[in-house]
Amino acid sequence: MTHVFGRVLNRELPVAVKSEGAWIEDADGKSYLDAAGGAIVVNIGHGDEAVVAAMADQVSRTSYVHGTMFTTEVLESYADELAPLLPMADAHIYPVSGGSEAVESALKLARAYHLARGEASRTAVIGRWQAYHGNTLAALDAGGKEPLRKPYEPWLGRFLHVSAAYEYRCEMPGHPDACMRAYADELERIILETGPDTVAAFIAEPIVGATLAAAVPSDGYWPAVAEVCRRHGVLLIADEVMTGFGRTGQWFGVDHWGARPDILTAGKGATSGYYPFGLCAASGPVFEAVRGAGGFVNGFTWSHNATGAAVARAVLRRLKGDGLVEASRLKGERLMKELAGALADSPIVGDIRGRGLMIGIELVADRATKAPFARGEQVAERVLAAGREHGILLYSSTGHVGGDGDLVMLGPPFTITDDDVDAIVERTAAAIRAVV
Ligand SMILES: Cc1ncc(COP(=O)(O)O)c(C=O)c1O
Repeated sequence: MTHVFGRVLNRELPVAVKSEGAWIEDADGKSYLDAAGGAIVVNIGHGDEAVVAAMADQVSRTSYVHGTMFTTEVLESYADELAPLLPMADAHIYPVSGGSEAVESALKLARAYHLARGEASRTAVIGRWQAYHGNTLAALDAGGKEPLRKPYEPWLGRFLHVSAAYEYRCEMPGHPDACMRAYADELERIILETGPDTVAAFIAEPIVGATLAAAVPSDGYWPAVAEVCRRHGVLLIADEVMTGFGRTGQWFGVDHWGARPDILTAGKGATSGYYPFGLCAASGPVFEAVRGAGGFVNGFTWSHNATGAAVARAVLRRLKGDGLVEASRLKGERLMKELAGALADSPIVGDIRGRGLMIGIELVADRATKAPFARGEQVAERVLAAGREHGILLYSSTGHVGGDGDLVMLGPPFTITDDDVDAIVERTAAAIRAVV
């Protein structure tokens, strides 16, 4: 009996022993095509020697120095290289050790900004239903996935929520061409009802990830909500933990619409899974306000870590040097087109969506009515199990339609070959067919 308190307690997991490119091998010699990059993490592929060397080199220089005592050359140069790519002016980067910590830091930073400006009444945070921002308590409260919130409800409830921009099941007036106005109006209504001088921030994923499987908003959505936030002095936080670093075929998800957040969070692909890392980026004005007021009351033992910065810098250089963001766009377009062809006649595929190599498949009991499968049928779980049988790893999400509903996500490394793309299409279609 294992002494590991595992993530999965109802089945035995294979033992991973090796990973290379888009493939993971287990101790029995079985190979799996990592079509989801774990949890949409592995942007540059497994086994990149330059990243491993950068990590080893940094550890051999300074194994650990505390963020209040030292900065490091590698952290300074990483921030210098990243800042011009971020969708904000004069970005300042606060590195942490994962996405949830990045979101916690972003929320606290929004509060710190308003305090610094003498607007202590601004405490409210608005998130969206069906969003995911992490599993720590404030991030969970900002998110809106009911099954994850439920056990911890007594500890939640400080934050407010508006509707997610979820085009496949959008019921807003004006859908599909003008529903963004209705979403922006809903946001403005809640700001006005709450009291504009009490709202600190609005947080949203540019393209909804884990909870709605790559749900892309209509084109006007981001400019419209950004304008509402600006008009009311509400900080806009773009949670780019999943969409950042090229996943959607642009450096950052908001780049698709030219939106400029005040604060941005990232994680996952920032280090492509080689090191636990995340970051919270502040625009120049946010940074200057907080600096002027004496600094940011926040910090973690592992924040500003040099090894994390070394890995993040090596990954950033790989993304830039090998044109991998463009590769994500082009390969994503091809993968989506081929999946659409292969799954066109599947009676349970309701929607295929996404941008770049962030792709979602919504499984439904009835394509015409979009009726979901009952949760008890465990359709997504069965597709993932069939995928494992066929040697492909997919990512899933469930319960997004009033507790029912099944979503499958793909997010392979940007380095996938043409053969990998073909194999992803064949094996994904086979896994879905097996369940039909
Ligand atoms: C958009 C988004 N924000 C935050 C998080 C939390 O990141 P982590 O699991 O690294 O804490 C995730 C993780 O899936 C995410 O997708």
